[in-house]
Amino acid sequence: MKIPFLDLKEQSKVIEKDVLRSLHDLMQRNDFILGRDLFEFEKEFAGFCESKFCVGVNSGTDALFLGLKSLDIGPGDEVIVPAFTYIASALAVTYTGAKPVFVDIDQVTYNIDTAKVKERISRRTKAILPVHLYGHPAEMFDILKLARKYNLKVIEDAAQAHGTKYKFPKGNWKIAGSIADIGCFSFYPTKNLGAFGDGGAVVVNSRNIYKKLLMLRDYGRKSRYEHVRLGYNSRLDTLQAAILRAKLKHLNHWNSLRRKNAWLYSKLLQEVEGVIIPKQADYAKHVYHVYAIRVKNRKQLLEEFARRGISALIHYPIPLHLQKVYEKLGYKKGDFPIAEKVAGQIISLPMYPHLKFGEIKAICRTIKENVKK
Ligand SMILES: Cc1ncc(COP(=O)(O)O)c(C=O)c1O
Repeated sequence: MKIPFLDLKEQSKVIEKDVLRSLHDLMQRNDFILGRDLFEFEKEFAGFCESKFCVGVNSGTDALFLGLKSLDIGPGDEVIVPAFTYIASALAVTYTGAKPVFVDIDQVTYNIDTAKVKERISRRTKAILPVHLYGHPAEMFDILKLARKYNLKVIEDAAQAHGTKYKFPKGNWKIAGSIADIGCFSFYPTKNLGAFGDGGAVVVNSRNIYKKLLMLRDYGRKSRYEHVRLGYNSRLDTLQAAILRAKLKHLNHWNSLRRKNAWLYSKLLQEVEGVIIPKQADYAKHVYHVYAIRVKNRKQLLEEFARRGISALIHYPIPLHLQKVYEKLGYKKGDFPIAEKVAGQIISLPMYPHLKFGEIKAICRTIKENVKK
């Protein structure tokens, strides 16, 4: 039995007719750049995120980079980033000329440990960049409270969190991306909402920031021939937007299938000694971009998976403070013990909407038979 980590064929079948019709129309219109499907998608995705505006850009990394720029973050500034996330969360900060300042993570949610953020705030701190890792929201109430107190901006890295929800202590729910100053998404093909290539978006409620982002993604252009700021070429292709429009209609259903799959994994693994399953906090609606477990004998388990044709991945084996690219920041092993421990034990199991229950059972059987107690 071969079980892939991700299989998008079923999703592609569902949207095929829509996509081919859009491609046909697009070829008639010739509006490949900044075309109709892009503007329609931006309206629809802003609506999905319960935000006023959305700006499509060419990747999740650029969504973060341009988002930070739109908040005037640059050289001399510091931005607080979790030590355990995808490298792009920090690279985007570095691209602006600002410095990423790492903070350890919580060992249950794997998100930034809000209790440890305060001690890393300095005179130079301009922003906090929480990541809704794996599709589980960060503890946003605490982060927003700190931001208010210290006058900081908050940028949500929602690259893995299309449709994730967060519940405030008063009981009101907000959707990822609309909780803080800006929300940044990736549409990399493997994401819960993925294009057929690179793509990303920023969602925002401020009209001023929205206008800045429109310029930043399009050469700093105010009108056809007037360039008023240092802008970039970072537009979401109309074609990708057309594909995303077709997929967006199904996103809630696909997220609910992911949640069902996660439920079965957790049911089958919860009693297995030696396995730590992901927990959904009381304040969270998890969308399981990644279903990650922790075990002590990861290498051995991965070898057994490979023997049985099961694909699994590690998100992520090296925390950011130990990445060579950040050597100059002066961190060392032991600085963020939780991030380091999790990086050494975490395994991402196959997860996608159309994964079959029988496949999940086979994966769980392999885990049960091979995990070290
Ligand atoms: C948490 C996180 N942030 C940022 C990114 C960057 O997105 P992209 O690959 O679209 O540039 C990713 C994508 O993998 C991610 O997982």
